[in-house]
Amino acid sequence: MKASAYAPGKIILIGEHFVVYGKPAIVMAINIGVKVIAEKRADCIVHISSNLGFFGKYKNQKFESESMELNSRKHLEPVKIASETVLKELDKRCGLNIEIHSDLPIAVGLGSSGALAVSTVAAIGKLLGANFSEKEIIKLSFEAEKYVHLHPSGIDQAVSTYGGVIVFDRNRGVSRLNIETGIPIVIGNTGIQRNTGMLVKSVRIKKDMFANVINSLIHTGGQLTSEAIDVLKKGNLKQFGELMDINHGLLTALGVSNDALDRLVNSAKKSGALGAKLTGAGGGGCMVALSTSDNRKKIANAIRLAGGTPILAEKTEVGVKTWLNH
Ligand code: PMV
Repeated sequence: MKASAYAPGKIILIGEHFVVYGKPAIVMAINIGVKVIAEKRADCIVHISSNLGFFGKYKNQKFESESMELNSRKHLEPVKIASETVLKELDKRCGLNIEIHSDLPIAVGLGSSGALAVSTVAAIGKLLGANFSEKEIIKLSFEAEKYVHLHPSGIDQAVSTYGGVIVFDRNRGVSRLNIETGIPIVIGNTGIQRNTGMLVKSVRIKKDMFANVINSLIHTGGQLTSEAIDVLKKGNLKQFGELMDINHGLLTALGVSNDALDRLVNSAKKSGALGAKLTGAGGGGCMVALSTSDNRKKIANAIRLAGGTPILAEKTEVGVKTWLNH
């Protein structure tokens, strides 16, 4: 018997980085994600294969790569950590075959590692007959996320688990935003992979150096998200777009934007986007533009002409789901 799980990726609409310092952020699940299929093995080996070209197995903690990719271990280790966390939680010992099918580009801010950790935990839980709650899935997938991002806020696993549009606050938890209007977006990928942990660290260094200045920016980031929650609830996309622009300015002030992101953000704005900003940790990765429903293709084209790869993703209300494959 095999068990499967699917979890969506995400874009942060407002509030990345500030969320690390206890401010709320608005994040939206997208209809691109990661599927994991898990199966028990008779031995104690954990074998992991990914459609992104990473293959390998763990035998008594020792890793053996089966692919030409030099980075296989780095990419498969979080999956091994997630599987060990679940086995420990359930007090079980067994080998596993784990198959990963991901449609999300990696290390560009679309939550691929969060979706992978969540779907790995959920698939193995389902396989072993555990009925994990959403809160348990989030907690158990945190270990893998810590390996990837060092000190993550937990926003990625939360949205991958719940789906929809959520307000994430480290201290107050998660609340769902039920929004009447659509949120038409265009994502632009710079194609530059980056490391979230290092970018979060760069902000911390700046905060240590210029505490008053950066604390003011963090305070403003919090105000921005509160305002954005109100305008989104009223369905005022025009004002939401303006707040996204301000958010990009604040993130630029934190030093996490770069030329490639600014080029895509400016081209989206020139082609009529209501707002545009980097999304995720910055330093490369993706930006997101807010569009009217009839202007997405024009914005996508402008992003392409500015050297990015447009992604026409949509909001999804569906969070993690599991099923058995008989
Ligand atoms: O991993 P990314 O690029 O989606 O960034 C996550 C957002 C940050 O606020 C920068 C980090 C965090 O853990 O919340």
